[in-house]
Amino acid sequence: MEKPATHFTKSGAFVLIAAAGSGQRLGGDLPKQYRKIAGKTILRHAIDCFLAAGFSEKQMGVVIDPAHKALYDEAVRGLDLRSVSYGDKTRNKSVYNGLLSFIYAKDKDKILIHDAARPFLRPVEIDKLLSALEQQYQAATLAVPVADTLRYGEQANKPILGKTVDRNELWAVQTPQGFHYGALMEAYGQIEPSRNYTDETSLVSDCGIDVAIVEGHRQNFKITTQDDLELAARLMTGAGTNMETRTGAGFDVHAFTDGNSVRLCGVDIPHDRKLSGHSDADVGLHAITDALLGAIAAGDIGSHFPPSGPQWKGMESSVFLEKAVALVKEKGGRITHIDLTLICEAPKIGPHREAMQARVAEICGLSPDRISIKATTTEGLGFTGRKEGIAAQAIATVMLPDSECGHAE
Ligand code: CTP
Ligand code: MG
Repeated sequence: MEKPATHFTKSGAFVLIAAAGSGQRLGGDLPKQYRKIAGKTILRHAIDCFLAAGFSEKQMGVVIDPAHKALYDEAVRGLDLRSVSYGDKTRNKSVYNGLLSFIYAKDKDKILIHDAARPFLRPVEIDKLLSALEQQYQAATLAVPVADTLRYGEQANKPILGKTVDRNELWAVQTPQGFHYGALMEAYGQIEPSRNYTDETSLVSDCGIDVAIVEGHRQNFKITTQDDLELAARLMTGAGTNMETRTGAGFDVHAFTDGNSVRLCGVDIPHDRKLSGHSDADVGLHAITDALLGAIAAGDIGSHFPPSGPQWKGMESSVFLEKAVALVKEKGGRITHIDLTLICEAPKIGPHREAMQARVAEICGLSPDRISIKATTTEGLGFTGRKEGIAAQAIATVMLPDSECGHAE
């Protein structure tokens, strides 16, 4: 996952994710929005698309089926969203319930309504949609031109084609669909309660509001059937694409010297010793850096940052790791996992494990669930046992474009 752009929030805009459906067409034990792809529910992927685009958690609400509350709580664990509302039998009724949780929004505030079942939305399309709403339009939606020839089926029971529809005039409408909040609420007030609209653009068009077309990307498809789910899994995990898995190992040792704290994985831990070294001696980050360099066969930390270089003296080791992460990206690669073991009798790692995990995740631009930090002693044996220093070993897993397929470099 790309590092969320937490420094920037989209002011005057909100997001409502419609997740109250039951996913009948996909079937299976779990409603589709709670099925997991690449370790995350489809709903959580959809939410993360907006976080990655710079929305804050407090600008987002989700509408769910009350029967799925436990699944929902699990899917949004660790997030502090603005609201959760309960849906209804039809999508537009569900959305209306969700909209009520934004009742204090101003008329001109923008509200983007998105299907939970579209986990591939990109920030660039969100920005295009918002800018259409900033110009003259009260309503705008992502849509893609229809590429296939479209024909009616002649008879329901026979697979024989009927009339052809002119596809040149047709657009497949996606989400998010964006509206000025006041205009959308007013449109909801005008429609016949019995009318069922499959999306909000149809509803506002019926109320005489022009909906601008913002060309989207085909990747933002809605997971509806088993085929879609399989395709989504392939896209998300890189399976079936020309990516190959590489692993790299890293190992490092630093000796203790006089001092009162050690830095491990970017976290300062009070201790009666410190680690000695040319840089900040962060043995954990050094092992991870070497593991990443190993996975892409790009030398070792010393070849990029020679200990003889005075400019690296006292340097924060996050700089070394950032460089290794940048090299992986340059090769078109993606880090999928890092597993670090710290080997020492003291200090105790457990109380600091989460902070270390969070810091390594931040430096690598990954979610913390892709970072594992472990610790062990050597039962008093060897140099770590004698408390002369700390050792660290890391394994990094990286997806790289497959050079056999002619995609590398
Ligand atoms: N949705 C909703 N409330 C409903 C129906 C649908 O919030 N009463 C949401 C779904 O959760 C989904 C989005 O609207 O994220 C698009 O709907 P669709 O793809 O049709 O999802 P489902 O209705 O769940 O699937 P199906 O039609 O196959 O049952
Ligand atoms: Mg449906």
